[in-house]
Amino acid sequence: MSLQTFQTVEYVDWFRNYWHDIEYDLAISGIHPVSQKELNIQIDDLNFGKTLFYGHPRLVELISEIYGVEKNEILITSGSTQANYLICALLISEGDEVIVEHPVYTPLLDVVKLFKPKVKLLERKFEEGYKLNLDRLNEIVNQNTKMMVFTNIHNPSGNMMDTQTLKSIAKIAEENNIFVLSDEVYRDFILEKSPPVFSSLTKLGISTCSLSKFYGAGALRVGWAMCDPNLVEKARLLNDYILVTNSCAGELYGAMILENRNWFVEKVNEIWSKNYPLLKDWVEGRNELEWIPPMCGVIGFPRLKNVDSMKLTELLLKKYNTLISPGQFFGAGKHIRIGFGGDEDKLRKGLENVGLALDEMNRS
Ligand SMILES: Cc1ncc(COP(=O)(O)O)c(C=O)c1O
Repeated sequence: MSLQTFQTVEYVDWFRNYWHDIEYDLAISGIHPVSQKELNIQIDDLNFGKTLFYGHPRLVELISEIYGVEKNEILITSGSTQANYLICALLISEGDEVIVEHPVYTPLLDVVKLFKPKVKLLERKFEEGYKLNLDRLNEIVNQNTKMMVFTNIHNPSGNMMDTQTLKSIAKIAEENNIFVLSDEVYRDFILEKSPPVFSSLTKLGISTCSLSKFYGAGALRVGWAMCDPNLVEKARLLNDYILVTNSCAGELYGAMILENRNWFVEKVNEIWSKNYPLLKDWVEGRNELEWIPPMCGVIGFPRLKNVDSMKLTELLLKKYNTLISPGQFFGAGKHIRIGFGGDEDKLRKGLENVGLALDEMNRS
């Protein structure tokens, strides 16, 4: 019997082996998971048989209010992973050209590659503070370009695109008839002067988002895409092959979480004011590291001057019960990604462990 084989999503495959049993988790890229108890929310009664084909109405209503999009522009999915998959499946055909930012959250590149396009990487350079360079984008766009893909906030660097840059990208997209997949799973972390949801700037834009990062609720698997209603319709039909509808409990909890958005705003502000200075002082106090500080969010992406990031990660796992994300999963092997969205004391101890492992590697 022969089976279809698909390219393994290396990062997800690697991550799931270590994530659950680790003491010092500096790999997670959102705030650390929150619980029903912490939020003081509870479902009193739930009808298990009532199928909500297009998302729980309250969930859709809240997304519409918070993100400023019409209800018919919202496609509820199982995490932004599924939203990204559906959009790529609908828009990319074999041989199309697709522009993808680099460094990149490699699962995003993997899902693009699944549909066999010609991929062109758009470099976001350390020396340019990881800004998305519009001149370089203009140089690589041509009549075969079908789509471009970026994250805002950028995973892994934490660079944030301002409204003007987003408008310029929308203009390039319209001039060249290119779809734009803007993965905005971290955008909620921009608490001040938040730029618009990209899909509100052009009909060719698709923004994807979820409850996994800012809301610390990845295991609920609630996400969504925001895009032109025609595309929403097509994605719903495609989704009839995969999921038909989401979990009713997930969607109801999702709505309750969004109703508590202010709680998360406070929590994220507190994390930023306590944990970010810890990370900043630590990175800037280590000779073998250099970095572009993140503009917001809860991840930093230091570059190692002379240490192999995978070897460092392996040593941390083996000896220090500490998990970081090695740069190779972002196509940048000299870097490490450090998440600081959890407990302050654990972050302090986790960073101390990374320091000890670096000292050990420097000696050998
Ligand atoms: C850029 C990006 N997109 C999507 C995801 C997947 O998130 P979700 O839990 O919403 O599927 C992640 C998770 O790390 C991510 O970093």
